[in-house]
Order: sequence, then structure tokens, then C-alpha cells
Amino acid sequence: MNIIPAQTKEEMARFAADIFADQISSKPDSVLGLATGETPRELYKELIAKHEAGELDFSNISTFNLDEYVGLNADHDQSYNYYMHDALFDHVNLRDEHCHVPDGTATDLETECRDYDERIKQYGGIDLQLLGIGVNGHIAFNEPDEEFPKGTHAVDLTPSTIEVNSQYFATPEEMPTSALTMGIGSIFNADRIVLIASGPTKTEILHDAFFGPITPKVPASILQIHPDVTLIADEEALAKIRAKGLI
Ligand code: PGA
Repeated sequence: MNIIPAQTKEEMARFAADIFADQISSKPDSVLGLATGETPRELYKELIAKHEAGELDFSNISTFNLDEYVGLNADHDQSYNYYMHDALFDHVNLRDEHCHVPDGTATDLETECRDYDERIKQYGGIDLQLLGIGVNGHIAFNEPDEEFPKGTHAVDLTPSTIEVNSQYFATPEEMPTSALTMGIGSIFNADRIVLIASGPTKTEILHDAFFGPITPKVPASILQIHPDVTLIADEEALAKIRAKGLI
């Protein structure tokens, strides 16, 4: 594992954007795995700026998002489909048919999940996967559990995730309690993984995920055995790892 410390969350975003830009430039038909949440917003802004400066061409890039709430239409402003259009898709020359987000409104969710993994395979797998991390150690919506789930699947969200994410909904009751998520297996198949984290709320879990035992109770801990993981985090998020002298 490679750790890149950043002074600020803006610097974290720039470092991560540079890795994505290199990937896009060196392989213009790359398959990117993308994430939502607060942390990647700045990174997407950086990629848009590079595109506007004529440095990045997304016309042959394909994307697969990690997850989506069950029951939210693509035009609901808290759906991850909406987020991606707002944060990236509508501002670069990605082709609509190249952008994939699990469909949380599918009538048969199991089939949707199976098809999603199949589609990733048909595209040749993910070259570079972006991840955030939840305060409970989730990656995508793989919540703490008794085992590591493999493929894309439907999941009941934990009270911790519901509490953190319900702040974005008009009323907490509107927050869906289940989601579709790529599994740990789907994420693990990516050739290369970049996890970004910022702020003091992530410092405990970053330590546990990257330096604690590998356990499905901390889903991100499985990343310790992936062959190509880069953690990019600001100093607030790295505080515990640094205090323990681990970097
Ligand atoms: P955040 O979410 O970027 O909004 O902190 C990260 C996550 O829950 O994976």
C-alpha cells in the first residue's frame, strides 16, 4: 500500500485528480470506477478543469459507479445518478451510454445486480477504482458484517450510515434504508484502487482499516491485501496513523 499525505483536502483532491488524469491520458479507453459522497466532489472539479483546459478527453472513457439507493429515481436530487451528472458527467465529454450506475428502481434487484457485474466484465474490468470510506469502515455500501460480500448486491444500510447520510435529505425519513452496491469482490477486481479521505471524523477508521486486523467488521481492511492500493488523505484524517508513528 502506498500512502500519499496531503496538507489539505484541496491538495488531496489534486493528487487524486493527477492519478486519474494520468490514467485517462495513458489509456484513453480506460474503465473507471467512481464514487459519490462529499469527499470526491473536489476531485471531480479538478477533472472538469483539466477537461476544460483541453488536457483530458473522456470520449472513450467508461465509468461504473459503486452504488445507488434503492427506490430513488435518477432525477431525485439525492440519487447517486443525479449526483454524478451534477458533479461530473454533465461537464465533460463522457458519452451517456458509457456511464453506468446501478438502477435502484429496477423491479428485479437481484437481476440488476447480476447484470451490473456482467457489464463490468464485458467492459474488460475496472482499470482504476476510486473509493471513499465511511466512518464505520464501509467502502461503497459494504457495511460491517460477518463476511465480505462478493458481487454487486442489495444491502440494508446500518444506523450509522443512515445517520450520516440522512442530513442530505429534506427530512431524515426520506432517506432510503437500502441500496445496491458493488461487492468487495467486484471492487477487488479493479487493477488499481485509490481511496481518498479527509477530516478528523475519518482518522480512527483510517487507522483501523489500514493498520488494524483484516476483518469484515471493517470492510475497508480487506484493501490491505490488494496489490495496488493508494491512500490519499489530508493530515486531519492521517492524525492517528501519524501519532502512532506508522507513517
Ligand atoms: P463521504 O462518504 O465522502 O461523504 O465522507 C464516504 C463514504 O461514505 O464512503
